[in-house]
Amino acid sequence: MLKALSQFRLTLSANSEVRPGDGGTETFTEQETNGYVLFRANCNSCHRAPLFTTGAFANNGLAVDTTYRDAGRMKITGEPADSLKFKIPTLRNIEFSFPYMHDGRFKSLRNVLDHYAEGLLHSTMLASELRDGVVLSKDERTDLMAFLLTLSDREFCFNPDHAFPRE
Ligand code: HEC
Repeated sequence: MLKALSQFRLTLSANSEVRPGDGGTETFTEQETNGYVLFRANCNSCHRAPLFTTGAFANNGLAVDTTYRDAGRMKITGEPADSLKFKIPTLRNIEFSFPYMHDGRFKSLRNVLDHYAEGLLHSTMLASELRDGVVLSKDERTDLMAFLLTLSDREFCFNPDHAFPRE
């Protein structure tokens, strides 16, 4: 079973080597290029290429969720400094992985961008990268979204070989 699983994993990494967003920016539209500039200025410190995550934990300014009351990493470490820190997720294929955040509170990417631009909770635990706030006009949010959509790999996501086995 291990051999079968590792063979399968190898086909995944082979497939995912070539993806938009991997420096293939010369094919970007003006809007996507503009979005990429905004991304590098505001998001790149945590969501870094090639995986669009540093793998670290961060407090990205979410209010505690009312259902699970999930304190994030603090639950594991017991350190108040880890309060509401969550693992920084990849943004690859982000178009298809809604709803967003650990509790799925945001249904759309537009909601996520509105959060960063307007809804950041400024506590002492907020990540230093976000302390100065994120300034994004509505048009800039649309451009940033156009960039995020370039991280989709439809061929990979909808490859019938990766579908659930049929009965
Ligand atoms: C300080 C680090 C940090 C910065 C800067 C940051 N993020 Fe995040 N991001 C996070 C963390 C941590 C989460 C996960 C929070 C959770 O699980 O509740 C997240 C989640 C997301 C998600 C949801 C992913 C998913 O699968 O649910 C999106 C989309 C996203 N960020 C986009 C952005 C964009 C766009 C920017 C720039 C405007 C940005 N982030 C800036 C840390 C950061």
